[in-house]
Amino acid sequence: MAGRESHHHHHQAKQVPLSPLLSLICFVSIFLALSVFRRTSVTPQPHQSFQFINGVRSGISDAAGGSSCDYSDGSWLHDPNLRTSRYNPTCKEIFKGWNCYVANKSNALKIIHWHWKPKQCDLPHFDPVSFLEKFRNTNIGFVGDSLNRNMFVSLFCSLKHVTGEVKKWRPAGADRGFSFLKYNLTIAYHRTNILARYAWWSDNADGGKLESLGYKEGYRVDVDIPESSWIEAPNFHDILIFNTGHWWWAPSKFDPVKSPMLFFEKGLPVIPPVPPDIGLDMVLKHMISYVEKRMPPSAIKFFRTQSPRHFEGGNWYQGGSCQRQQPLSPQQAEDLFAPRNNRTNVEVRLVNKHLVKALNETSFHILNITPMSELRADAHPASAGGKKHDDCMHWCLPGLTDTWNDMFIQHLYDIRS
Ligand SMILES: *[C@@H]1O[C@H](CO)[C@@H](O)[C@H](O)[C@H]1NC(C)=O
Ligand SMILES: *[C@@H]1O[C@H](CO)[C@@H](O)[C@H](O)[C@H]1NC(C)=O
Ligand SMILES: *[C@@H]1O[C@H](CO)[C@@H](O)[C@H](O)[C@H]1NC(C)=O
Ligand SMILES: *[C@@H]1O[C@H](CO)[C@@H](O)[C@H](O)[C@H]1NC(C)=O
Repeated sequence: MAGRESHHHHHQAKQVPLSPLLSLICFVSIFLALSVFRRTSVTPQPHQSFQFINGVRSGISDAAGGSSCDYSDGSWLHDPNLRTSRYNPTCKEIFKGWNCYVANKSNALKIIHWHWKPKQCDLPHFDPVSFLEKFRNTNIGFVGDSLNRNMFVSLFCSLKHVTGEVKKWRPAGADRGFSFLKYNLTIAYHRTNILARYAWWSDNADGGKLESLGYKEGYRVDVDIPESSWIEAPNFHDILIFNTGHWWWAPSKFDPVKSPMLFFEKGLPVIPPVPPDIGLDMVLKHMISYVEKRMPPSAIKFFRTQSPRHFEGGNWYQGGSCQRQQPLSPQQAEDLFAPRNNRTNVEVRLVNKHLVKALNETSFHILNITPMSELRADAHPASAGGKKHDDCMHWCLPGLTDTWNDMFIQHLYDIRS
């Protein structure tokens, strides 16, 4: 984990310019919220102030692709009669540490007794058979870190539940992939932590600009070169869904002192060296443009917003845990995640600010899973993850990422209709 000292400075540097950006995002959200209301001619009066609050909270509007409903703005309703699961909880593809049912996590089955209800519409559980029918002959790639794998596994298990003929293979450099043969639909997971290519770097006897500044070792991050695991993905897939975030803000690998990220552009070190949050902006800019150049206009590109962690009583390496049995109230979530409170999981909304900025005016759709997920402090593996520390970052399966897929697939329907 990162040296605490540097973390300290890192956060401090970022807190200062936050409020102008916040007011900008706040303004944009109000604008978006109002235009949604105008289009749907819903009486704006009673909702306006909540929209305002929610806009500040999430900072992102989720009304996309011709739909007038913001699926990200809603609440969790308890429904003990929900059918226990959309798929067999013993689905083989579920990574052991995420299988709360098999690991006997006390609330493993209660997690799925909650239904996400967007304020302006409904978000039904997607029907796997009609999804497979509608998206015949389609390749769908998940590109990102283990949280995107968690979402990919949920989709795989949901589809496998209704159609058994599956070919397992690794298309276009993917870590894992499956074709549902009856429908010629392929889904694949391309593993990449920071999207860009990176490799260990150490000082060279000949010396260069980084050496002359005293750098001895670290990770060279080429901000303009995609990692090889997904460099071919835009040529293969019809639909891509990206994420990145966890490796930038809570680094166990990219220690700012012992193994800093050293950014390179066009093969040369960026001088003066920039901190990871600036590097993230550079990487996002280049990766978005790489994808836009290589995919035809008919392709559908999504970027998923940051998945929140729920460590309480310390970070993961300080004995922090997530013992809650029920979703948080909006007020509790606000307290836990508001950047001004600078609590343990502060990164979630900070990452989103970078994403929103980079994705503005691009052809990417934003899948805003953050507000619904911030509430689900009950839905992580915690000690059932089977590690030395609690896992308050990934999600139990079956569980929350099933709802992410409901939202993803609803967006796909809206875009195609
Ligand atoms: C945020 O919290 C960390 C410790 O959790 C602390 O080191 C840092 O100084 C805080 N930053 C600000 C801006 O208060
Ligand atoms: C879960 O509980 C069942 C039944 O009590 C037991 O057989 C199984 O070993 C337990 N699994 C774990 C991982 O503890
Ligand atoms: C299967 O889908 C791919 C596109 O994803 C397409 O190129 C191919 O022709 C399809 N195969 C058949 C038999 O329809
Ligand atoms: C998006 O881009 C437009 C035009 O450049 C700009 O006016 C707007 O402020 C941007 N919004 C965000 C959230 O960055």
